[in-house]
Amino acid sequence: MRTPVPTVPTPLVDVEVATAPRRSASPPVVLASTGPVFGPGGDALDTAWTERGEFTGEAGETTEVPDGSGTRVLGTGAGRPADWRRAGAALTRVLAELSEKRSQRVTADVLLPDDVDAAQVRALVLGLLLGGYRFRVTARDAPALPGTVRLVVSDLGYAEVLAAEAARAAEAAAATALARDLANTPSNVKDPQWLAATAAKLADRVPGLSATVRDEKWLASRGFGGVLAVGGGSERPPRFLELVWKPAQPRPESPHVVLVGKGITFDTGGISIKPADGMHLMRTDMAGGGAVISAVLTVARRALPVRVTALVPIAENHVSGSAYRPGDVVRHHGGTTTEVTNTDAEGRMVLADALAYAVGDLAPDVLVDVATLTGAMKVSLGLRTGGLFATSDDLAERITSAGEHVGEAWWRMPLLDEHADAVRSDVADVRQCPPGPGGVTAALFLREFTAGLPWAHLDIAGPARATEDYDEVVEGATGFAARTLVTLVETYTR
Ligand code: BES
Ligand code: ZN
Ligand code: MN
Repeated sequence: MRTPVPTVPTPLVDVEVATAPRRSASPPVVLASTGPVFGPGGDALDTAWTERGEFTGEAGETTEVPDGSGTRVLGTGAGRPADWRRAGAALTRVLAELSEKRSQRVTADVLLPDDVDAAQVRALVLGLLLGGYRFRVTARDAPALPGTVRLVVSDLGYAEVLAAEAARAAEAAAATALARDLANTPSNVKDPQWLAATAAKLADRVPGLSATVRDEKWLASRGFGGVLAVGGGSERPPRFLELVWKPAQPRPESPHVVLVGKGITFDTGGISIKPADGMHLMRTDMAGGGAVISAVLTVARRALPVRVTALVPIAENHVSGSAYRPGDVVRHHGGTTTEVTNTDAEGRMVLADALAYAVGDLAPDVLVDVATLTGAMKVSLGLRTGGLFATSDDLAERITSAGEHVGEAWWRMPLLDEHADAVRSDVADVRQCPPGPGGVTAALFLREFTAGLPWAHLDIAGPARATEDYDEVVEGATGFAARTLVTLVETYTR
């Protein structure tokens, strides 16, 4: 039987850097900044038509020059990395459309200006690869991807530098794309075992990266009461995934980074059931888990000299006679107990076990969790910015600047003292859903399981999904956080 999913990872466009255009390729793509001020190849154009104001060089604006030559112009606007990302995405969408229409892989040579910088090339490549991302499950074969896009620079020495930058960016884009694939996979296919096994299979292909998948019996023997409670309502039992990257030559000063990702393969809300409207979107409720899986795969493929462990507690939050209830008291790994007040706050229940396991068994130096945790954060920051909570200014700064480097926006939120006591419970150690600002109190709950270590909590409930295409983002799962995490790990190599 054909499963209703494409093969994961889904393919992306190829990009190469060279010093000359291909003779066989279609006419070149000429770049222009706002004005329009044309780059290489612009001299050869009869630009009289631009005087009609039909093309101004705004980022992402693109059209074929009306001279019959087939030359395409592409706007890079003010030249900021975000402009180049938008331009790359716009071009790849046009090439995809043409490829589909002509039933052949349309390629392009893009003529880069001599003063192009590394950040612009990285951004262009991110846009080219991710803007054309698609996740489709139809009877027909997937439409052909555009052919290889060649970036043309004049100087040989510089071409090598830029080729390395482009390769780096392509790896970052692939990390994002895999995180998208995992989150976009529908939950009839993506049960806890599928997610764990898919990650383990990908990890097996990477030297030095090992994967362990624990089942419900192991979880019971180790006292993972949170994961078992949340997973207890589903026919499809929970799993616990551990991916370990141990570099052959770690840098002596570099920390052991433990990444924890929420792996809820579907969130009905449980007995505290969600309204039907929008529930289908909860198939992406393992986006945090997908981001950490993808990040550690990328770190290992690049053989970065930093030890990284990724943990994903995986469960389906479902409704049945064996589902956990509001009012239950649950004991987590490590012994701390939680008074359950709302079964829809399942993310923190599974993360608590995983954080306690990290602290108790893995001796981390840095702890980062990523989760589609609260609707409140979505209200606070909208759909394009992630919420960042941290007990360490250094870690917070690394994450924000890593995000800036790869085009993901983070905003630091406060761990408010005046709400810290609200997580205490009368009957248990902690209360699952304290009153107060939802994103903040969820973070304060998680902090109880971090033993005072340098810790950051990334709430991606907003930016993990997009409701429309824009720039390099495509409607559906966005893969948000994957490339920030890779870049965060990279900061510990310098
Ligand atoms: N997965 C949801 C959070 C979410 C909401 C993610 C919307 C993406 C979009 C989470 O498990 C949840 O249900 N949170 C509750 C917590 C509440 C019961 C304290 C929420 O935010 O409503
Ligand atoms: Zn959830
Ligand atoms: Mn929930």
